[in-house]
Amino acid sequence: MTEGKVLNDILGDWKRTHYCGQLTADDIGKDVCLMGWVQRRRDHGGLIFIDLRDREGFAQLALDPDRDPEAHMKADKVRNEFVVAVQGKVSPRPEGTVNPKMKTGEVEVEVHELRVLNTAKTPPFMVEDYVDVAENTRLKYRYLDLRRPSIQQNIVLRHKITRSAREYFDGEGFVEIETPFLTKSTPEGARDYLVPSRVNPGTFYALPQSPQIFKQILMVAGYDRYMQIVKCFRDEDLRADRQPEFTQIDCEMSFVDRDDVLRIMEGMIAKVFKETIGVDVALPMPRITYAEALSRFGVDNPDLRFDMELVDISDTARECGFKVFADAVAWGGVVKGMNLKGGSSLSRKELDDLTDFVKIYGAKGLAWAKLTPDGWQSPIAKFFKPEELERINHLLQAETGDVLVFVADSFRVANDALGRLRVHLGHKLGLIEKDSYAFTWVTDFPLLEWDGEMRRHVAVHHPFTAPMDEDVPLLDADPGKVRAKAYDLVLNGSEIGGGSIRIHDKAVQSRMFDLLGIDEDEARIKFGFLLDALEFGAPPHGGIAFGLDRLAMILTGSDSIRDVIAFPKTQKATCLMSEAPGPVDEKQLKELSIRLATRPKQ
Ligand code: AMO
Ligand code: AMP
Repeated sequence: MTEGKVLNDILGDWKRTHYCGQLTADDIGKDVCLMGWVQRRRDHGGLIFIDLRDREGFAQLALDPDRDPEAHMKADKVRNEFVVAVQGKVSPRPEGTVNPKMKTGEVEVEVHELRVLNTAKTPPFMVEDYVDVAENTRLKYRYLDLRRPSIQQNIVLRHKITRSAREYFDGEGFVEIETPFLTKSTPEGARDYLVPSRVNPGTFYALPQSPQIFKQILMVAGYDRYMQIVKCFRDEDLRADRQPEFTQIDCEMSFVDRDDVLRIMEGMIAKVFKETIGVDVALPMPRITYAEALSRFGVDNPDLRFDMELVDISDTARECGFKVFADAVAWGGVVKGMNLKGGSSLSRKELDDLTDFVKIYGAKGLAWAKLTPDGWQSPIAKFFKPEELERINHLLQAETGDVLVFVADSFRVANDALGRLRVHLGHKLGLIEKDSYAFTWVTDFPLLEWDGEMRRHVAVHHPFTAPMDEDVPLLDADPGKVRAKAYDLVLNGSEIGGGSIRIHDKAVQSRMFDLLGIDEDEARIKFGFLLDALEFGAPPHGGIAFGLDRLAMILTGSDSIRDVIAFPKTQKATCLMSEAPGPVDEKQLKELSIRLATRPKQ
């Protein structure tokens, strides 16, 4: 024995018979062997109680000094997070100590023998839900954080999602095929993570932003229905719903049109919801076009759990005496409004806060009007004729007690600002029913958008997305007007999946690159292998990818995808536990033919 160190007991031939969290009154009288972590120890004048935790829950252990003095003596030494094994008998808890809130609250285990399998340092925070501890501390000691029941439930639910999805796709004839991680750049719009090649000095692999090109090639190769639950890597600015490495449920199908893809995928989502949280999803899911989503909700990921739609009042505003409104319309912009039903309880200060809110999204201001029994109470009421007020009231279905808000700006800014304000108010005013799930497909996205900085079109989805057949002639005449065979699945205002029918014709693909300002040489270097493949009998095909982390976040009711990922990264893309990324030694760099221009900070 080393000086000062207590040797732990050995496991010996003990075998666990039950998980702690499994014991119920039905087990009373059984001899059991439990193993787990000490949640807490309580001394009650001689008697010691220990809450023992494992992944299924808690069991109360009771140790009596008169009955089992040796076990009691050992129990006296255990501290939080010690790893302990016990043998004993399940017995009913004494009257008055039954805990109806706990699954195992009717029983306890009368311990006859106890083994301390390992000690633990005092943890930096209590391993329990609702502890007030900085997220960085949780991430640094992620193994302790992961012991908390709520996180364990999240991680297990995530497993159930992938299990259901795999089962569903298997039943529908999909084959799971792995695609490479050491590959070339995939155009999904983010920066690549690069990996230097040692054997080919000066060259780099890119980690895939998605398996997009490979899954299309698998269609050319005849695999017909592919799926993969796969890591994707994107070096982009991180937010609560974005990680640098995240997981997609990725699918591709041949000989299908859009409706086939949507129908099959809806079935998967419905099965996942039923089997993970027991919710029946109504099928078919609603669909809304991109144009309609923008016009009614201001955004392309509308939260349909509540109403409060945007209304265009440009026609009335055009003629009105409020210069801000009239000018906006005269310059080709719009005036849009929203009715906050029953919102007149909002104070002046709160309305000012809303103005500050829309300014974040580029709006120059927010005009408002309270509907009182005497009509509009508003700083801008004086600029409108009574019949104009009446028309606006009618358009917005305004009634006494409501508040109307307006933004006059370009189509883009007015929609964006009000669309975001709508979601903000949905939460703030409590318009969202708890545990409700509102799905919608958003379809008919534009194929291209103009990038003012680069002075050229960029793909809204990715460059392999097919244009709508009836819009193909517009590719030459007015490319900005072309709609794509692209679709997103939106759940509660969050984009949980996106995909498209692809271009399977080499000529159309080349035309697309042309429009994107990618010349033949560049296309060849970047995706030559896909272009080649398209010339060897590519079937019509299309697919979609779902964000597993976002789906899990919603299904578990979490606020961040970090809570559904075992080992997530921080906003700065670091892992606080392993301290990745880290410096590498000179020798390794030399092997990779790399010289650093910047030394890492110590
Ligand atoms: P897209 O880029 O839309 O499409 O990605 C599909 C889904 O992946 C999720 N997602 C993310 N989740 C967490 N962190 C991120 N950084 C992140 N980025 C995306 C979103 C999104 O809806 N190859 C195409 C799919 C296809 O066309 O089939 C693609 O990757 O939920
Ligand atoms: P002002 O004429 O600047 O005093 O603005 C009068 C009201 O109109 C204020 O409540 C402003 O917030 C609002 N307002 C200013 N610009 C806009 C705009 N572009 N759209 C909507 N309201 C605006």
